[in-house]
Amino acid sequence: MSERPVVLAVDDRPLNLELVQAYLAEIDCDVITADNGHDAVHAVQKQRIDLLLLDVMMPGIDGFEVCRRIKSDPKTRLLPVVLVTALNQVPDRVRGLEVGADDFIAKPVDRFELVARVRSLLRVKALYDRLDDAQRVMLALARAVEAKDAYTESHTERVGQAARALGEAAGIAGEALEDLYLGGVVHDIGKIGVPDAVLGKPGPLSDDESEIMRQHVILGEQIVRPLRSAAGLIPIVRHHHERWDGKGYPDGLKGEHIPIEARIVAICDAFDAMVNERPYRAALGEEHALKAHEEGAGSQWDPSLVELFVAMRRNRQQKFTIVTVA
Ligand SMILES: [Fe+2]
Repeated sequence: MSERPVVLAVDDRPLNLELVQAYLAEIDCDVITADNGHDAVHAVQKQRIDLLLLDVMMPGIDGFEVCRRIKSDPKTRLLPVVLVTALNQVPDRVRGLEVGADDFIAKPVDRFELVARVRSLLRVKALYDRLDDAQRVMLALARAVEAKDAYTESHTERVGQAARALGEAAGIAGEALEDLYLGGVVHDIGKIGVPDAVLGKPGPLSDDESEIMRQHVILGEQIVRPLRSAAGLIPIVRHHHERWDGKGYPDGLKGEHIPIEARIVAICDAFDAMVNERPYRAALGEEHALKAHEEGAGSQWDPSLVELFVAMRRNRQQKFTIVTVA
């Protein structure tokens, strides 16, 4: 069994630390605290820490300097650091990024935001801990594609998380679930080989350009295939543009001949693209996107998975409404 992850919260005010500890009680992790920068650096060097929540304004060495020291040490540079700060000015954010911070949370800390961020970062950290170097390179490449493709920030991370959740609801478990997450993140990795003029074209693509774009699934497969642990990712990378009615690509697979992992990622990818703004169109509302999925069930997507996905999203909306009203 794996050990519980350890979160180190650093703040010079005891009340803030108590608040963070109370908020994180609902997460399966141990929270330890430090009230100054020196102790924080020492703790990180001395013991295993999985996530650092770091106040910026502290006497002695401040949060920026703590972060800089941790990120410049090869032994600790992969530790995710979140700067918790009332400073919301652009120069402070830039400084935070310069010293290598992975994320920011604004003060006063919102409970739901803190819990969601910590959960997500701990999951990513656990994944990184298990990856080999080649896989880390692959994830870095997936991020490069994201930047090149002008998707909204963190699109691939959200697709990975959504695919994992839908897969779990569909009865997938264990390593296959981790492959779904990773496959969701890297599914478009082959776009690294698609020219920017095609990838970023705002209007419809010509036939030739569409053909070039379609090659990204083949290129993607070629990129991930040499990896030792890529077996579970190949079906996702190659088949995420197949359609339930057999009119997709690259193989024109139909219905359940399409690997279920690819059917899952296809739904989550389309949904996330719809509800987020793109350079050439505004974001669609969630309900609008869910309706589009219902309309495409049985032609573009697997109808049972769409039903499951839509039910999950509507359930979530309801929960969110109750939380915000309470
Ligand atoms: Fe794709």
